[in-house]
Amino acid sequence: IRIVQRMEKVLITGPLIGDSVSRLVNHFRVEYSKNEVMNQTAFSHAVKDAWGIVTMTSLSVDRHIIDSSPQLKVISNLGVGCDNIDVSYAQSKGITVTNTPDVLSESTAEMAMGLLLATSRRIIEGDHMVKAGGFSGWKVDLLLGSELNGKTLGILGCGSIGQAIARIAGDFEMQVQYCNRSRLPDEVETRLHLSAVDFDGLLEKSDFLVITTPLNKESHHLFDLKAFERMKTSAILVNIGRGPVIKEVDLIAALETNLIAAVALDVFEMPPNVAEQLKTRVNVTLTPHLGSATTEARSRMSDLVINAILDVHEGRVPDYVVS
Ligand code: DGY
Repeated sequence: IRIVQRMEKVLITGPLIGDSVSRLVNHFRVEYSKNEVMNQTAFSHAVKDAWGIVTMTSLSVDRHIIDSSPQLKVISNLGVGCDNIDVSYAQSKGITVTNTPDVLSESTAEMAMGLLLATSRRIIEGDHMVKAGGFSGWKVDLLLGSELNGKTLGILGCGSIGQAIARIAGDFEMQVQYCNRSRLPDEVETRLHLSAVDFDGLLEKSDFLVITTPLNKESHHLFDLKAFERMKTSAILVNIGRGPVIKEVDLIAALETNLIAAVALDVFEMPPNVAEQLKTRVNVTLTPHLGSATTEARSRMSDLVINAILDVHEGRVPDYVVS
């Protein structure tokens, strides 16, 4: 008698870059949402009989989802932030959770610098002006911005993305200070010319402030009206971390009362919804969560999520297990 064992199911909840999925087909039944990211309802149905899932960070993997998926053994998250997953609950059920840090750090740091420059040099305003036919010739005070050179850059959350930003900012001769859950090793501080400050120091002394911190209980709504009141009125804020680190209604109030000069947001409190009051201001630059959106980074991330599935299946410890 030949016993045919049914292959386990791997659910891939959105398109990946490259053909890394092909490495799964001999080992699993693959359900691949190849053209678009699944919505939460479709995901909650499709996950029920899955052994492994590749999740996009826009999908929530909460207790309810975990409880409804008794065969689940691995959650491979395409991204570094895992605030979409109840990681400790998953671990308590023996499920391995993995993510894709490091491979996206340079791309995300470049995006942060891009937003910093776009905002400080009013590049988007200039683009709109020219395209709308509003450019009537060179003028000494046209769209004056603010130089980065010599200014103080504050970085909230100084993991590998924050450190890559610090390294690039060093070439702009910025003074870089950071606020992190734990102090970085002396060697890193010395190499990157970084000084550690507390949150108040970060708010009060930064000319430019970049948020890269993950979203957790401590960072949720860290930037509220009280925080904005402590910032320089000339300050420019950039968020490439997670939207809910900023309390958006307070940000809108801060912009309306000129508590800070400008903001660039790559992430939002309730994505994909964006407050109308943010869309209409010239001193607000908005991008649709593009931090790691380069072919290079997204290809590496797509490879890593598949590696993690295969590693767990073959009894190896994946490269990036979330602890
Ligand atoms: C990340 O890596 O966490 C990015 O924000 C993609 O979600």
